[in-house]
Amino acid sequence: MTHERSRDLYDRALSVLPGGVNSPVRATRPYPFVVDYGDGGHVVDVDGTEYLDFVMGYGPLLLGHDLPERVRAAVDRHVDAGPMYGAPTEIEVELGEFVADHVPSVDMTRFVNSGTEATVSAVRLARGHTGRDKVVVIRGGYHGAQETTLVKGQFDHVDPSSPGVPDSFVKHTLAVPFNDTEAANRVFEEHGDEIAAVLVEPILGNTGIVHPIDGYHHTLRSLCDDHGSLLIFDEVITGFRVGGLGCAQSKLGVTPDLTTFGKIVGGGFPVGAIGGRADVMRELTPVGDVFQAGTFSGHPVTMAAGLETLRYAHDEGVYDHVNGLAERLRAGITDIIDDYAPTYTVVGTDSMWKTVFTGDGPADRAGVCEAGCRQREDCPHYGTCPKTGGDVADAATERWERVFWPQMRERGVFLTANQYESQFVCAAHTEADIDETLGSYEAVLS
Ligand SMILES: Cc1ncc(COP(=O)(O)O)c(C=O)c1O
Repeated sequence: MTHERSRDLYDRALSVLPGGVNSPVRATRPYPFVVDYGDGGHVVDVDGTEYLDFVMGYGPLLLGHDLPERVRAAVDRHVDAGPMYGAPTEIEVELGEFVADHVPSVDMTRFVNSGTEATVSAVRLARGHTGRDKVVVIRGGYHGAQETTLVKGQFDHVDPSSPGVPDSFVKHTLAVPFNDTEAANRVFEEHGDEIAAVLVEPILGNTGIVHPIDGYHHTLRSLCDDHGSLLIFDEVITGFRVGGLGCAQSKLGVTPDLTTFGKIVGGGFPVGAIGGRADVMRELTPVGDVFQAGTFSGHPVTMAAGLETLRYAHDEGVYDHVNGLAERLRAGITDIIDDYAPTYTVVGTDSMWKTVFTGDGPADRAGVCEAGCRQREDCPHYGTCPKTGGDVADAATERWERVFWPQMRERGVFLTANQYESQFVCAAHTEADIDETLGSYEAVLS
């Protein structure tokens, strides 16, 4: 495996792009491979090396790298028609109808251009709707590069987690650990009538993956109802991936007031969206006063790619395929770690998967969840499986990044380079790909 062209390109990139990349997570060590093209469930780098790809663009590519003919045709038609206009189009109405038809909490949607933009706008909308400033976020949750959520610390002792975010911006942010109902109750006891919203990933996808304990989101729902706050589910990762077209909220049986989307809903093109109850959504400009706008919002090419991707997923049994393969992958890794790394935790649901390199836990694994941690109270590892972002951060993160990940890459399996970010099975992956991945996992962990 040679990496010479990648190395040389990265060298050039370091002169013109900060860190050689346009998003920090791509700057893998010692230098990233530079992608030439995607091919189904694989990517091929500029040195001609093929990798089995489970990064899948960090989530958007539900169908993999080859657009099915009908998706390509829809995209081409909108490229040919002239890419965008700054005036309404039929395709954005159709995607809005599709989302409202399938996602339980959504009557109306505002499409934007990134997940970050979606969470920024959702927070502004919640603040505008309630007339309150405080927002509860989850430690270890990620909502994009936005000021309200780039915090460290907990409860009302939070500081900006990045230079450039003024202290005064984050004084309205309250942070609590995931899966901690006591902390959630406490923050509402102390600040209930000041809280505009709770912003939470239904399943932590950027620090973990961490599944909610039974009843956690129901508790958040009740607290929000009791205190007149909005519950915002950030489904940028889980949207149209977990729970199929109904998203994670349908699977968990909890209906938020607002939902943020990104990734899959744009079919591989830049996208974000805020969806929710009509009475709240109508407070956005131009109906209401909460300002929200964007030159590229509802971009016709993106709308076409997203709509046709979701229709294809529905018509072609994509969710059964990807969820079935990921289940087999998680079950296979569970067997492997039974033998070689009994304290590790296999996590994930639907087509999301990861292994958290947890260091504690009984050696006896009889009765652990078979294909991904479900926070089952009767599991022998319930006391030690990750419940919060902090638990994941306490895992052997360096071992993942410096020892495990490079070996998997050298074997031609491209995983997310740090311990925290989810990995994804796509429609183009096959049983043989799962076998190959399990073989590599066993070889590296044994
Ligand atoms: C849950 C969640 N919210 C928001 C974002 C931000 O989305 P984007 O990177 O499109 O701005 C991400 C990105 O990974 C995410 O995972």
